[in-house]
Amino acid sequence: MAIRKINEDIYNIGAIDWDRELFDELIPLPEGTSYNSFVVFGSEKTALIDAVEPEKEEEFLRNLKELNPKRIDYIIANHAEQDHSGLIPKVLEWYPDARVVTNEKCKGFLMDLLPLKEDVFDVVEDNQTLSLGNKTLEFIIAPWVHWPETMFTYLREDKILFSGDFLGSHLALSNTFSNDDSQTYMAAKRYFAEIMMPFRPMIKKHLQRLEGYDIEMVCTVHGPVYKNPSFIMNHYQEWVSDDVKNLVLIPYVSMHGSTLKAVEFLTDELTNSGIEVLPINMTKADLGKLTIELVDAATIVLAGSTVLMGPHPQMLYTAAMINALRPKTKNISIITSYGWASQATKTLKSLMGTLQAQWLETIDYKGYPKEGDLEKIKALALQIAEKHRVLNLL
Ligand code: FEO
Repeated sequence: MAIRKINEDIYNIGAIDWDRELFDELIPLPEGTSYNSFVVFGSEKTALIDAVEPEKEEEFLRNLKELNPKRIDYIIANHAEQDHSGLIPKVLEWYPDARVVTNEKCKGFLMDLLPLKEDVFDVVEDNQTLSLGNKTLEFIIAPWVHWPETMFTYLREDKILFSGDFLGSHLALSNTFSNDDSQTYMAAKRYFAEIMMPFRPMIKKHLQRLEGYDIEMVCTVHGPVYKNPSFIMNHYQEWVSDDVKNLVLIPYVSMHGSTLKAVEFLTDELTNSGIEVLPINMTKADLGKLTIELVDAATIVLAGSTVLMGPHPQMLYTAAMINALRPKTKNISIITSYGWASQATKTLKSLMGTLQAQWLETIDYKGYPKEGDLEKIKALALQIAEKHRVLNLL
């Protein structure tokens, strides 16, 4: 991707990966991703804010060569993960006098992850500033976005927040700036769900702190630049709040149709009560489809078949991911179908110990759901409706 001008004397020389399908060998990237890297020319000094993924070395160095800064005085590392730090050693080869500017914790991570020696670093504290001449960088230590060493860099004169992964989106786009449309919204929500959601309390604090800054533009390291920061900030406020939607999420796996029958019955019962329902077949859907809905679903009901006495492996994975992502879901239950005996419900429940949600009645039934089993599912639907009423969702 070519060099993109962000503001006067500020350029994005990062790369776009149109084809990347997985991040961390875990997170599906249906719309690719980008790795943004910003060059800020001050009247006296030049700074590079974050580098890019090593796989994109050729594209990044081509842009750097074309922009051709006479000098890079500072390489600002807002985050140590290699998709933003991996090419710092290469930049240092080209600009050996550059100082790597970051916080103490990030310095340690960078030395663990990359061939960097201690004497290349300048360590900064929270709120410390760095003058580039007519432009001033302020560092805001913001841990757990989504690693413990993360920070933001605020460019005072231009009122630009360089936010690292925070507020980002895995979205490969040729346009420099966000269209603030539904595509951007969904990509940002997916990104929040998969990467930021487990750190909701910390994210909430960072958003509060940023209210004290006059921000006219947000440059994240993934996805387009926000010229209207309130678009993404307001959505983040909503996602980190305790508010939930009148939605029941049903991740399920059905081997012979018995679980599917229960899922369809529960879906109908809930729908008749005025509740939105989303069944997701976990053998077909990608992780993102589930995680996006986890952001604000009031209730989750896992429904699955039994394999060799335990949960279907896809349901094990689903339960482990829900537990790791720590959604704000208020109610949770499990429905299990089995052939002769099952420990599936017990096992799945034990895997979701971090959730603050209230456990509702769980249901185990043998084979195809019979009249008595459907009565139990109906009772579960009534219990969920009552819980949603208490939450003022109905
Ligand atoms: Fe985009 Fe945490 O790296």
